[in-house]
Parts: sequence; C-alpha cells; structure tokens
Amino acid sequence: MDSSFYDLIFKRKSFHRYGEPDGKKITPEELDEISEMWYKFTPLFEGIKTKIKIVPGKQTSCDRGEEYCILIYSEKKPGYLQNIGYIGEQLDLYLTGKGIGPLWFGVGRTKERKYEGLEYVIMMAIRKIDDDSKFRTPGDLSTFNRVPVEEFWEGPLMEGITEVVRLTPTACNIQPWKVINKGDGTLDVYRYRRPGKHGIIPPFRLAYFGSIDIGIFMLFMDICLEHKGIGFERTLTPDDGNFQRLNLNAVYKLKNWPEDNK
Ligand SMILES: Cc1cc2nc3c(=O)[nH]c(=O)nc-3n(C[C@H](O)[C@H](O)[C@H](O)COP(=O)(O)O)c2cc1C
Repeated sequence: MDSSFYDLIFKRKSFHRYGEPDGKKITPEELDEISEMWYKFTPLFEGIKTKIKIVPGKQTSCDRGEEYCILIYSEKKPGYLQNIGYIGEQLDLYLTGKGIGPLWFGVGRTKERKYEGLEYVIMMAIRKIDDDSKFRTPGDLSTFNRVPVEEFWEGPLMEGITEVVRLTPTACNIQPWKVINKGDGTLDVYRYRRPGKHGIIPPFRLAYFGSIDIGIFMLFMDICLEHKGIGFERTLTPDDGNFQRLNLNAVYKLKNWPEDNK
C-alpha cells in the first residue's frame, strides 16, 4: 500500500459542491494517470474484474460543478461492493494527494449501465482544486462529523487505529461499521445497522451502500495497521446483504499484538 495514504486520510474530504470554475483544469495527462492507477491499486478480493470509465460530468446526473465523473464497474461476485469501496477509496486518497477534489456520488445516475461486460456500481466526481487549503487541514479533526468511538468500537481501544478508522467516509455519513476488539489480538469487523442513522438512503439500499462503506473502512484499518507496523491476517466473511443489525464482514488476527494496546 502507498505509504502516503495515511497522511491523506486527514486531508481528504468530500467536495459536495465545487463552486464556480476558477480556470484550473485536470490535464489529459492526469486523466491518463488516473486510468492507469486504478489497475495498480490493491484489491480486497483477487479475481473480481473491475474497470473505470472517465466521462465529462455533464454525461451524468451529478451537476455539482465537477469536471468529470469516474464511472466504476465490476463483475458481480460475492464481495464486489466491499471490493469497490476498498479500491475506490485508494482512488479518493490518490486524487487528494494530486490536488484533485473527489466526491463519491452514490445517488448519481448514468445511462452507461454496462461497460465491457461489467456492471455499473457507483461514480466519483472530480475537479481540480486550485488551492490546497480547500482540503482539510491535517491535525484539525474538527470538521470530521463522526459518531463517538464508544458507538462503534467495543473492547480495548488501539491508539493510532481506533481514532483514525473513525474518520472513514460513508454514504450519507451513515457510518455502518462496528468493531469488536476481543483483546487477544482479534478484531471482528461488522456491517452494522446503526439505529436511526439512514440519511436519505432507502432501507433496501442500505446493504448496498453499507457494503461499499465497509470496504472503505477496511482500507482505513489496513492503512493504520501498516502505519503502526502491526502485521495481520484478514479473513473476509460473506455478508449476505440482509437486514440484520450485525453482519460479520472480516476477522483480523493481529500478528504482533501490542499487549498494552498502544
Ligand atoms: C459510498 C459513498 C457514497 C456517497 N454518495 C454521496 C452522494 O450521493 N452525494 C453526496 O453529496 N455525497 C455522497 N457521499 C459523501 C458522504 O456524504 C461523505 O463522505 C460523508 O458525509 C463524510 O464526509 P467527508 O467525506 O467530507 O469526510 C458518499 C460517500 C460514500 C463513501
């Protein structure tokens, strides 16, 4: 994993509205690089084909002042939504590092529902950002609107991990994740139906977006564990997409578990 990703967690944000155009534009070279990078990112599941297609924003329903939308496609295999969240968030962080503002755009619509045999999953809007101060300021967590740690983490806290995975972006900010730290070097990660926190997502779409969100969450978890030098084995468990309150998505076995959790 790219070691710059850790710092970019604190810089990234969703550009819900880009504002008036200011002259700076994404270059054709940058577009080519984005297209190449997608295939270099680490997948969560090996063996699920994915592709992206970059189109002018106008060809979608986005209309947030973006230049382009990156349409993301996948084979529909078990775990494909988590996989898209995991790879897509690497794109989100990569773009942030390049001064390009991303916006995961779940409500977006496109007529291009299929691409080279793969199914449309979600899009990400992008626009060049003229001024780095429009991103978050690393060190200032005040603009992260997230649930408190005790609402998603059970068991001993892990310094440098718990408070950072909490910053995971999610569709409508529903934050559908729960971690149970068993205290013996095992972390169970669940997709969780957080009571009363659905945003505008209709119930039948909660598992869809929640699964993408869990993929993003696992990416943050992996970045943090790598950053702390904690080796791990991650076992992915099938999420049947149902409406249960807790759906196990992954079990992490930490190899060099710090006894004092620090
Ligand atoms: C899978 C996913 C889908 C999203 N879809 C939308 C969307 O349709 N419209 C929108 O304005 N923001 C969307 N967002 C952005 C979230 O609202 C945003 O990530 C969340 O509020 C946290 O804010 P932050 O990303 O600035 O930290 C989406 C985010 C994710 C992860």
